[in-house]
Amino acid sequence: MAHSSFHSPSVSNGVSITMEESAFVTVQAAARDEPLVFAINGERFEVSDFEPSTTLLEYLRSHTRFKSVKLSCGEGGCGACVVLLSRYDSVNDEVKSCTISSCLTLLYSVDKCSIVTSEGLGNSRDGFHPIHERFAGFHASQCGFCTPGMCMSLFSALINAEKRPQEDSSLGISKITASEAERAISGNLCRCTGYRPIADACKTFASDVDMEDLGINSFWTKGDCKNLKAEKLPSYNTNNQINVFPQFLKNEFRSLKRHSWCSPTSLLELQVTMKSILAENVESVKLVMGNTGTGYYKEISKFNKYVDLRYIPELSVIRLNQNGIEIGATISISEAISALKKEGKAMGQGGLVFLKLANHMEKIASGFVRNSASIGGNLVMAQRKHFPSDIVTILLSVGSTVNILMDSKVETVLLEEFLAWPPLNFGSVLLSIQIPHNQSNKIGNKVFFETYRPSLRPLGNALPYLNAAFLAEVSHSETTNGVIINNICLAFGAYGVKRAIRARNVEEFLVGKKSLTLEDLLEAITLLKGTIIPEVGTPHAAYRCSLAVSFLFEFLHPLINARDGLVEDSLQKIFNHNEEIGFLLSGSQVVETSQKYYPVGEPIAKTGAAIQASGEAVFVDDIPSPTDCLHAAFICSTKPLARVKRVKTIPEFLPVDVISYKDIPKGGANVGAKTVFGPEPLFADELTSAAGQPLALVVADTQKHADMAANSAIVDYDFENLEPPILTVEDAVQRSSFFEVFPFIYPKQIGDFSRGMDEADHKILSAEIRLGSQYYFYMETQCALAIPDEDNCMVIYSSIQTPEFLHSVIASCLGVPDHNIRVITRRVGGGFGGKAIRAMPVATACALAAFKLRRPVRIYVNRKTDMIMAGGRHPMKITYNVGFKSDGKITALHLDILINAGFTQDISIVMPHNIMCTLRKYNWGALSFDMKVCKTNLSSKSAMRAPGEVQGSFIAEAVIEHVASALSIDVDIVRKKNMHTFDSLSIFYGVSAGESHEYTLPSLYEKLAVTSRIDERIERIKEFNGNNKWRKRAISLVPIIHEVTVRPTPGKVSILQDGSIVVEVGGIELGQGLWTKVKQMTAFVLSSSLCSGDDENLLDKVRVVQADTLSLVQGGFTAGSTTSESSCESVRLCCNILVERLMPIKNRLTEEKGSVKWEELITAGHLQCVSFTANSYYVPAVGTNSYLNYGAAVSEVEVNVLTGQTKILQSDIIYDCGQSLNPAVDLGQIEGAFVQGIGFFMLEEYLTNSDGLIITDSTWTYKIPTIDTIPKRFNVEILNSSHHKNRVLSSKASGEPPLLLAASVHCATRAAIKEARKQLSSWRGERCDESNSMVFQLPVPASMPIVKELCGLDSVECYLKSQISSNARQCSSIDGMPFTNNKTF
Ligand SMILES: Cc1cc2nc3c(=O)[nH]c(=O)nc-3n(C[C@H](O)[C@H](O)[C@H](O)COP(=O)(O)OP(=O)(O)OC[C@H]3O[C@@H](n4cnc5c(N)ncnc54)[C@H](O)[C@@H]3O)c2cc1C
Ligand code: FES
Ligand code: FES
Repeated sequence: MAHSSFHSPSVSNGVSITMEESAFVTVQAAARDEPLVFAINGERFEVSDFEPSTTLLEYLRSHTRFKSVKLSCGEGGCGACVVLLSRYDSVNDEVKSCTISSCLTLLYSVDKCSIVTSEGLGNSRDGFHPIHERFAGFHASQCGFCTPGMCMSLFSALINAEKRPQEDSSLGISKITASEAERAISGNLCRCTGYRPIADACKTFASDVDMEDLGINSFWTKGDCKNLKAEKLPSYNTNNQINVFPQFLKNEFRSLKRHSWCSPTSLLELQVTMKSILAENVESVKLVMGNTGTGYYKEISKFNKYVDLRYIPELSVIRLNQNGIEIGATISISEAISALKKEGKAMGQGGLVFLKLANHMEKIASGFVRNSASIGGNLVMAQRKHFPSDIVTILLSVGSTVNILMDSKVETVLLEEFLAWPPLNFGSVLLSIQIPHNQSNKIGNKVFFETYRPSLRPLGNALPYLNAAFLAEVSHSETTNGVIINNICLAFGAYGVKRAIRARNVEEFLVGKKSLTLEDLLEAITLLKGTIIPEVGTPHAAYRCSLAVSFLFEFLHPLINARDGLVEDSLQKIFNHNEEIGFLLSGSQVVETSQKYYPVGEPIAKTGAAIQASGEAVFVDDIPSPTDCLHAAFICSTKPLARVKRVKTIPEFLPVDVISYKDIPKGGANVGAKTVFGPEPLFADELTSAAGQPLALVVADTQKHADMAANSAIVDYDFENLEPPILTVEDAVQRSSFFEVFPFIYPKQIGDFSRGMDEADHKILSAEIRLGSQYYFYMETQCALAIPDEDNCMVIYSSIQTPEFLHSVIASCLGVPDHNIRVITRRVGGGFGGKAIRAMPVATACALAAFKLRRPVRIYVNRKTDMIMAGGRHPMKITYNVGFKSDGKITALHLDILINAGFTQDISIVMPHNIMCTLRKYNWGALSFDMKVCKTNLSSKSAMRAPGEVQGSFIAEAVIEHVASALSIDVDIVRKKNMHTFDSLSIFYGVSAGESHEYTLPSLYEKLAVTSRIDERIERIKEFNGNNKWRKRAISLVPIIHEVTVRPTPGKVSILQDGSIVVEVGGIELGQGLWTKVKQMTAFVLSSSLCSGDDENLLDKVRVVQADTLSLVQGGFTAGSTTSESSCESVRLCCNILVERLMPIKNRLTEEKGSVKWEELITAGHLQCVSFTANSYYVPAVGTNSYLNYGAAVSEVEVNVLTGQTKILQSDIIYDCGQSLNPAVDLGQIEGAFVQGIGFFMLEEYLTNSDGLIITDSTWTYKIPTIDTIPKRFNVEILNSSHHKNRVLSSKASGEPPLLLAASVHCATRAAIKEARKQLSSWRGERCDESNSMVFQLPVPASMPIVKELCGLDSVECYLKSQISSNARQCSSIDGMPFTNNKTF
């Protein structure tokens, strides 16, 4: 450890502060108890007496009217809460703005700042901002919950781009580039859209965008020229920017108001403050900067004192010196990136290290986190609490040092030394980090530097499985004509160790080697494998170790070949390493529109999209709290099967009450959900049935207190005399624990399986597939508000897909008649099936608490609890026997499927039916099965988008692929061989098959093969694979058939006095565009019959209103993809009634006046006492209520054999929507579902502990797709197929079936892995068929570790060994010739 002369003028080493100084500062601190002042959307806010742990988000949502700022994860991982924060720099008279996540930012740290939320950009009263309008017009908002955050991310990028000193942008076009526009939203999650339309909306602002590349929108029409297109966009005037920092705040800044928490403004003051805190023996103190650390550590305890470091100038230096760059500890990661880039660029080739450091840092978290996350905070988190930091690893590799203030002294130590210290105590402050230049000053020496962070998301917002950074100084050896490593530093971290390390043994081995050989590299790798050892229990430990090997190989291998000038080439190659991520998305959408039922069939923008973008759309948690409102949180069981002896809450968090099954009122029942198959309990009684089951509900004065109380509750369990829980389907079979599947919903077997097997030339017996769960990840978690009303009545606002069922559940629970209950649902921030059944217990518990306490109670379930309770998709185990001919024709298939339903039956007993709805897509000859729905002690599994159907379709593909592998023939041949004729389709699907002309799959499949140019691409892929060892590509074309059923649905249409129209439907608007289609249908039916001219646009007169279970009964389920069309049909029936009533009046008026205006007609109708409300209940005719949907997708992927990463290069889809009611809405459903399917097949790991409790329970561990993980090229065509007589205006469903198409990505990945395995076999000297390595199951999700494992965790070693032995053979045959390895890398 060395004491340094730190640059601070106010601190000298080892000098402590005098008493006088101390007294002076204390007086200053005491005077600071003044209110915070800040601005929100230009309005002045002055607040005091807030608990310092209050976040900006809590303040905005609970104390202001600005509700556009949404809470979705509360941990910095989603972007729903993003706001623009601006600070005034009085020295430079400059306003600096950036996005931040308001869920992590403490309210006290926004003192003197200005906040802009999406409402502040524009709104429905004052006019929307062009960002809002373009999001709406590009169909970039479905449920709308993510949209305000997206808009703010883009807005920030726009205003910062404007500040760039570049050539003037033309009016309406920003200086932002298309790539920057896409990157602006790369940290924001959206679960609905699939991102493509969001990316397009953002790119409309880019100066370099080609309008032709942008997707379907409501601004321009086919054939508009480029210029016209630009003109038609809502104009964006860069000269007319929003004032993000009001003048009055600048004055506030000058007046230097102070506030209650400690904000020292110099190092000296900081020392004094800390001294006095220590002297006061304050119980808990926190040094705070961005506070983003709480996103990871979820600190729930409050601190007695906060010391804000941001105003200390000595900690915010960025100083260049002769050794490198010094970065103050409070500098944000974003600022550090800018500084490193600036300096790196200025240094030219010598700036490699800085540029690469910046490049790596750009993949840490997301922009809105990096903007407030400090470098110092990151280092301290790693040092003190072993956070798996990227920054530590990369700074370690370049020999950084840190300056620390300890006991009034400044210490300068190597970062490596600092990491080895005991955890930094409170009294110590990290001041700055010194990063050396690392330029080589020896002539002929070259510096190589590279960093790595393999993670599920290439652009960041995901922790890596391991990180590494290597710095080497090499020179050319005259004697060996090779490369000598003069110096090397190999740093590794985040692989399941407490701190980043240097692989010193490997470094020592490599340094000084005269000429690096393959043998050296293999030896280095062996040494490394003995060094990179993750701690016991680290997930994917072997994978992480193999990554270290891969990167060392990738870094050093070019040096083996390097000769003379080749050193430069290798350097260049390494330099380009990170650029490969490049992710400018592109795609095309082909939709045919038809004027036949105008405005039905038009791609009009989604109803309410603009108010969703501006954040004015009201979700349940946006409804202001009524007076006296309480807040609730669930206490859930962590044990699957146990007796609950006691649930104890800690009084510190002021719980008002703890509600359990004991609080069910007399006459009520412990019921929390209900389906047509029966009820399930609300709370566990004495015995828990699953980890995640609600035990009780804590009620407190705020949501935060309720959450804290629930979090800290202590539950005493007793296991005496209890059997072990049933967690797996195997356990369930052993203990015969099943839910009964009623015969009428159990699917029918087809043909004679034994005969089919007898006909087969080959058989595969007892093959096994396992499929796991998937969490809904709706952006709005479960929520409800229950308000007691007179006479034991209750109004419940719930974000639910099934209000009618909830209504009845609450009435049963409270023991009141149904008419005492009213459930209101306006919109749902994403459902995906998770708010069908699983929303019921949440709202019911809330209602029970409100009933007992006679006060309004609301709940907004936090993300972790939501994930624990929600259940998700059904895991299952499939065993199959399949018989087939030598040409690939399958003659018989038998499946044994064990479905894990969890502890309640929910809708699980429909799973066998649903699985078969899609599995029958091929003609299996004979099809038999035995499916059991297992009752286990897991959380209840429920309907997740395409429940059972996605698994059924996948199983079909897995069998087909298995057969193809077994026969060693092209899988496409097997697919085609087994595709249905219309006759076989009718056998497998009965009446659902419809008429032969409706069976579009074969033609659609062929068409896609042509439009996607699959044959040509297959050839290119072969060539690519031949030329590349470490990247393998493959392509796969997958068809789907998806049967859906239309259910009865009510509707109500009323015409008001001014001619405006109000519509109520059974269906709920979940973001799927149901209201939009309903509006179009209403306008079509009424205007086509009752309006005289084209000028009358009834579309604008229609408003669809929230579902209210007392206003419209029998609403049923919004699920199964058909609610939009059934709601449209019910509305059509209502409109027909109104037309019938008004037609005579219209005819009479037309006769009298020649034509009649809509308003005149309505006035006349009123005068004649026409009833202006019409109700209907659409009941689809039996025999025509089920039908088939068809589609196909072709996906091309590239697998990185070294890391297991899969990049989706291109996906092309053709989907038959019948005659689409709204092609833009259907397109959104197709793309969104496909991307959700990518999540299931490729990314989303749903892991549980040994008690069955989900452990991937946050945005840190559960990774849904982001913009950088979707297909790079994404082409979708909606097939506007012919007339379908039994369908609603010939339309077909689009909500769920396209999700199944994502199996094409999985299949392509399997094919790419096959290529890698072929290569691996040859390296191992095995024959492919001998090792049988070509037949393998690729698990779901095919995440990076799994792909790498199948490609060979030891692929690098195998390659090296094969090269070494081949060289040895060559050497022995070509005696005397020097060895040169010229193989391409
Ligand atoms: C969603 C998300 C994703 C992330 N992903 C990554 C990633 O991929 N890779 C990665 O490396 N990091 C990642 N991070 C971590 C992030 O870099 C850190 O949270 C951040 O840098 C901490 O800085 P802060 O200013 O917010 O610190 P704070 O949260 O304010 O403080 C963190 C801790 O350090 C202490 N502290 C802060 N400054 C000092 C100081 N100068 N001296 C002494 N103690 C101090 C505080 O008391 C506190 O204990 C991620 C964070 C989030 C929220
Ligand atoms: S809610 Fe703040 S980032 Fe998710
Ligand atoms: S529109 Fe993005 S989450 Fe729903």
